[in-house]
Amino acid sequence: MAQRETWTSRVGFIFAAVGSAVGLGNIWSFPFQTASNGGAAFLVVYLLAVFLIGFPTMLIEFVIGRRSKQNAISAFGELGYGNWTFAGALGVASAFITLSFYSVVGGWVISYIVGSLTGGYLGDPGTFFGAVSSGTVAVGAHAVFMLVTVGIVAFGVADGIERATKFMIPAIIVLLVGLAAWAATLSGAGAGYAYYLSPDFGVLAANFGDIVPSAMGQAFFTLSLGFGVMIAYASYMGRDDSLPADSAIIVVINTIVALLAGFAVFPILAATSGVGNASGGAGTAFIALAGAFGQLPVGWLIGLVFFVVLLFAALSSSISLLEAPTSYVVDTYGTSRATVAVGVGAVAFVLGIIPAYGYVGLFNDLVFDVLLPLAVLFISLFVGWVADAESVDELVQGTRLSSGATTLWLWWVRIVVPIAVLVTLYLGVTGFYSGLVSGAYF
Ligand code: TRP
Repeated sequence: MAQRETWTSRVGFIFAAVGSAVGLGNIWSFPFQTASNGGAAFLVVYLLAVFLIGFPTMLIEFVIGRRSKQNAISAFGELGYGNWTFAGALGVASAFITLSFYSVVGGWVISYIVGSLTGGYLGDPGTFFGAVSSGTVAVGAHAVFMLVTVGIVAFGVADGIERATKFMIPAIIVLLVGLAAWAATLSGAGAGYAYYLSPDFGVLAANFGDIVPSAMGQAFFTLSLGFGVMIAYASYMGRDDSLPADSAIIVVINTIVALLAGFAVFPILAATSGVGNASGGAGTAFIALAGAFGQLPVGWLIGLVFFVVLLFAALSSSISLLEAPTSYVVDTYGTSRATVAVGVGAVAFVLGIIPAYGYVGLFNDLVFDVLLPLAVLFISLFVGWVADAESVDELVQGTRLSSGATTLWLWWVRIVVPIAVLVTLYLGVTGFYSGLVSGAYF
């Protein structure tokens, strides 16, 4: 087998990991989840979930990946505990399911690029969303998005991924800051900020059972955790980098992008359709942003630039979802990367036809409420209780962490993360099940 590729630099790794993290999760999912779950009450729980659970969990994946130098499935075997490979397998299978609906939403972005050129969404953004978000248009756009994803992954990790991501983060931040500044001038914007930023703890208490799994799922999703993506990326990483420092950079940049998306979307929503739980839904961000472009001078052009940048952000995430299953097959069977990427992409495309016909919500909730917490539960138990000595040893490589800090992390991973995730899983599974039986998805 060929020698394993490595990142060309530490910065290359950080860019790629940020590229995986920053995506539709920040700009589509975060405003949608926040809008649907009580606004600021959700935001508080989400931020706690990102920093108290997401950050240590990212370290779990980095440790496994860099220690084993393997893809997510083989990593568990490599660390000497073959019977834990199911944890990696669950994650990789989940990455595959996530890719199938992620590509559908990526396809929406492609339709919005076309819509910028034709002016299709400028008049009536709600109708446009309805027309492109499900049905044959959605399937076609999903096919295009998947094809591009496969093309990038087929070219290999260093060239394809690093090159695609280097300019997109600054671009997306600049665009969101500009949109947020414009949105601040809208009359009625204040109600948007109030909904987004001033938490109503009564709302939190009354909707705890919905808010907690959504916030935890969103935290894992936006940080690309649980499915072995960060395990696979860290497997290409050098031993002298500090995992906690890299992880902190990734978490902070990712959080900034999501918060900025909220600062653009909520004032616009308040000034147009109004904010409140009822305004939430998969169309929230698309409809709000397209509505804003409709009011701006040369809005079609601003929209075009915005959706092109969003497409790049989405692609640098989707390639990471495809990379997880691909690197497993390549490492295990020695099949060529291009062949595997095409094969996995083709099957994920077929599965994605279901969400493309109106079931994005079903796939989304399956991933957020069930698969993500389940996957994180297993990897945290593995690192905390099974491969604990190796993990702590790997964590300190390239750092000057005190033994107090590593001990805190270890016990956090052993106790706090699993308990938080178990609570999430209980609430998430019961919520998902009641959605299924009540017919909410169908
Ligand atoms: N984090 C990406 C986003 O926010 C989505 C994503 C990429 C992901 N890779 C992942 C989610 C792995 C979970 C697991 O758009």
